[in-house]
Amino acid sequence: MFDYQAPENLLKDRIILVTGAGDGIGKAAAISFAKHGATVILLGRTTKKLEEVYDQIEASSGPQPAIYPMNLEGASPKDYDDLASTIEKEFGRLDGLLHNASLLGNLSPLSQYDIETWYKVMQVNLNAPFLMTQALLPLLHKSSDASVVFTSSSVGRKGRAHWGAYAISKFATEGMMQTLADEEEGIGPVRVNTINPGATRTHMRAQAYPAENPEQLPAPEEIMNVYLYLLGSDSQKVTGQAFDAQ
Ligand SMILES: NC(=O)c1ccc[n+]([C@@H]2O[C@H](COP(=O)([O-])OP(=O)(O)OC[C@H]3O[C@@H](n4cnc5c(N)ncnc54)[C@H](OP(=O)(O)O)[C@@H]3O)[C@@H](O)[C@H]2O)c1
Repeated sequence: MFDYQAPENLLKDRIILVTGAGDGIGKAAAISFAKHGATVILLGRTTKKLEEVYDQIEASSGPQPAIYPMNLEGASPKDYDDLASTIEKEFGRLDGLLHNASLLGNLSPLSQYDIETWYKVMQVNLNAPFLMTQALLPLLHKSSDASVVFTSSSVGRKGRAHWGAYAISKFATEGMMQTLADEEEGIGPVRVNTINPGATRTHMRAQAYPAENPEQLPAPEEIMNVYLYLLGSDSQKVTGQAFDAQ
C-alpha cells in the first residue's frame, strides 16, 4: 500500500467534490475525506446511495456534506456550468476534485466492440471529467491549494486485450492529466495527478472478474492513503504524476 500517514485534521476546511461517491472507491474516499475534516460534495447518479453516504458522514460527526445527483452519461456542458454556479454560490471555491466515477463497458476484442458501449464509456470516463474540469477550473483557481485527481487503471498504462473502451479511456485520462498539469504548472494553485487504485473489492471489479474471490482483495477503505495524500496539502507542488494506490 502507498506509505503515508494522514494527520487527523489533514483536510480541515477543504471543499472536495467526489464523482461516483455513492459506491465502491468513491464512497470510501468521500467518507475518509469527511473523517479528515473535509466538506465533501457527493456527486453520483443514484440519489439513494448518495443519501446513505451522507447519513454515514453525518452519523460520524463529519462536516455536513452536500449531495449533487448527476448522470455523467447524459450531462451537457450547461449541466456542468450549473454545477459550477451551485458550488460558487454555496462555497465560493473548490479545493479538491476527485474524478472517480467510471463505467467498465464490455470486455471484448476491438474487432467486435459494441459501438454504443464505446460511446457510453468514453462519455462517462473521459468526456465527463474533461467537461467537469473545464467548468470547475475557475473555482479551483480560487483555492489557495487545489488538487485535481483523475482515476486511472493498470490497463490505462499498458494495453491489454479485450479491455476496449475502458482501457483506452484510461490512457486518454493519463494524457489529460499530463496536459492539464503542464498547463497549470507555475501559473497557480492547481496540481493534477492520477491514481491507479489497483485490484480493489468493488462491484466493478466483480463485474470484470466474476470468478475471483473478492475476499482476497483489499476493501476500498484500505487503499485511501494515496487519496488522502493527494487531496491534502502534504502533496503541494506534486503534479503531473501517475500514482499507484497499491
Ligand atoms: N475496483 C478496482 O479494482 C479498480 C481498479 C482500477 C481502477 N478502478 C477505477 O476506480 C474508480 C472507481 O471504481 P469502483 O471499482 O469503485 O467502481 P464501482 O463500484 O462500479 O463504482 C463506480 C461509481 O461510479 C458511478 N457512476 C457510474 N456511471 C456513472 C454515471 N453515468 N454518472 C454518475 N456516476 C456514475 C457509480 O454510480 P452507481 O453506484 O449509481 O452505479 C458508482 O458510484 C473507477 O474510475 C475505476 O475505473 C477500479
